[in-house]
Amino acid sequence: MVVPRYHRCDVVESTNDIAIQLARGSEPEGTIVVANQQTRGKGRRGRQWWDDYGQSLLMSLILTPDIPQSAFPQLSFVASLSVAEYLITHHNLPSRLKWPNDVYVNNKKISGILIEITTRPGGLAAVCGIGLNAAQTSFPPELASFATSVSIETGAHVAVDNVLPCLVGTLLQNYSAYLALGFEEILARWRKYIWGIGCPANIVMDNTTITGTITGVDPNGALVILDADGTEHVICAADAVNLRLDK
Ligand code: BTN
Repeated sequence: MVVPRYHRCDVVESTNDIAIQLARGSEPEGTIVVANQQTRGKGRRGRQWWDDYGQSLLMSLILTPDIPQSAFPQLSFVASLSVAEYLITHHNLPSRLKWPNDVYVNNKKISGILIEITTRPGGLAAVCGIGLNAAQTSFPPELASFATSVSIETGAHVAVDNVLPCLVGTLLQNYSAYLALGFEEILARWRKYIWGIGCPANIVMDNTTITGTITGVDPNGALVILDADGTEHVICAADAVNLRLDK
């Protein structure tokens, strides 16, 4: 199993950016950059990731799997599954996974994942960035109706320093399972937590929006949508998946 090696920082622009630099300099697999705060936290698709000093788990793990480049996005399923399993096992929180890799509890986002790929001497590395709202007891007004934290959901104080080793343990175990048993094993477990099956949804992509019902995730991890005409759409990447929970 991969052994974690922590690089602890206080305030940084983005732990992913630091991990990418370290990966390019041949830092080994298992290196984890952790920070108390980010001033330019990166979300998916150019969005920002908000955090609160010392209240959020902010980590970026370097992985160097011997897999084709096209399979690297599978690591986001390994990571989101690990966050969901961690939240259920350690906090008894009913986590749901919103495709492709957001973790929700009680209809609010608790964690986001950003996988970035870089070249390094001898091959490629993935940087697996995880933001988990841990100890926040409130959020800024513009986020309050969308975001939640472990402390809010459990009603208990949560120490970020205790979250880190448990989450990393789950993640590295699932990474080993992925390498040994393949993506199928991870996807089968991931599907148990999928949010939105049978739910009407708008899938927003670069030039178009598809409206339909989510029917599942195919063996490659793509989202499958059935529209009102009965046409099946297989979606590999989207700007936003808006579930219409009122319908
Ligand atoms: C998303 O939901 O859009 C993904 C958010 C990913 C945020 C994490 S926080 C640690 C790591 N460093 C970053 O700059 N981003 C990721």
